[in-house]
Amino acid sequence: MAHDTDTDVDFPSPQRGRGGRGARVDPIFAEPRLAAIYDAFDGKRSDLDAYAAIVEEFGAKRVLDIGCGTGSFATILAARGFEVTAVDPALASLDVARAKPFADRVTWIHGTAVEVPAKKADFAVMTGNVAQVFLEDSDWLATLRATHNALRPGGHLVFELRDPARRAWERWTPDATRRRRDVPGIGAVEAWTEVTQVDLPLVSFRYTYRFESDGATLTSDSTLRFRDRSELEANLRSTGFTLLEVRDAPDRPNREFVFIAQR
Ligand SMILES: C[S@@+](CC[C@H](N)C(=O)[O-])C[C@H]1O[C@@H](n2cnc3c(N)ncnc32)[C@H](O)[C@@H]1O
Repeated sequence: MAHDTDTDVDFPSPQRGRGGRGARVDPIFAEPRLAAIYDAFDGKRSDLDAYAAIVEEFGAKRVLDIGCGTGSFATILAARGFEVTAVDPALASLDVARAKPFADRVTWIHGTAVEVPAKKADFAVMTGNVAQVFLEDSDWLATLRATHNALRPGGHLVFELRDPARRAWERWTPDATRRRRDVPGIGAVEAWTEVTQVDLPLVSFRYTYRFESDGATLTSDSTLRFRDRSELEANLRSTGFTLLEVRDAPDRPNREFVFIAQR
C-alpha cells in the first residue's frame, strides 16, 4: 500500500515470496483474495494526481509503469490518452488491474522491468514506493538498468522512496493502522499492520486481514529496504542516469524523496 490519506497514516508497501518470472512477491499482491481488497485499503491515492502532473510536465506520451500492482495509475493515464505499458510480477494484482475501466488501452506485462521492450518509453514511473521492495542491491540495480534500457535516450524516470530519517515504521502499529472496510461483493474486512523486526536498513512487518463473511484470517509478511538519498544518487549514476531533481511528495510533505532522473 502506498499510504492511507483517509487517516494520514503512512502504510508500508510489502514484498516477499516468489512471484511472476522469478521476482519475489508478497501474498498481499499475489494471493487473489488479498489482491481483490488491496484498493479498498489503499486510501484515496491523491499521490497519483501528483505523478500524473509530473508525466504531463515532461510532455511524455509513452509511459512505462513498473510495479503497477492493481493498475490504479496505469488506468488513470490510459483514460487521459497516454500510451501505457504496465508491468508487475503479481498475477493476481494484474487480474484486478485488467478489470478496471480503460484497462483495455493498457499493455499489461506479467514480469519485471527486464521483460519490457527496449527504448520504447518516454517516461518510466514507480509509484507506491515500489523502489523499496528490492532488498538486494543486485535486484535494485538490475531494475534500474532494465529501466534505462526501456527508455528512449532523453527519457525520464520518476520514483519515490520514504526518507529513512522519518522512521515511518514507528507508526506501523496495530492501533494506528487498524481499519475496517466494506468491500463490494466481499463484505466487511478488518486489517492492521505490525512491525516484526527492525534491522536497518531492513524493516519487516506483517499485514493481517480478517474477513467477516467467513471468519478467515490471512496474513502477509514483508520486508522493505530504506535506502538513503546519497545511496540512491550513487545507484542512479552507476546505472547511467543523470539525476535532475529530488522533490518532496506534495501529498506527503517531508516524508518522501521523489527522484527525477534522465537517460
Ligand atoms: C506497494 S505496491 C505498488 C503498486 C502500484 N505501483 C501502486 O502505486 O499502487 C508494490 C508493487 O511492486 C511489485 N513488485 C514486486 N517485485 C517487483 C519487481 N521485481 N519488479 C517490478 N515490480 C515488482 C509488487 O507485485 C507490487 O504490485
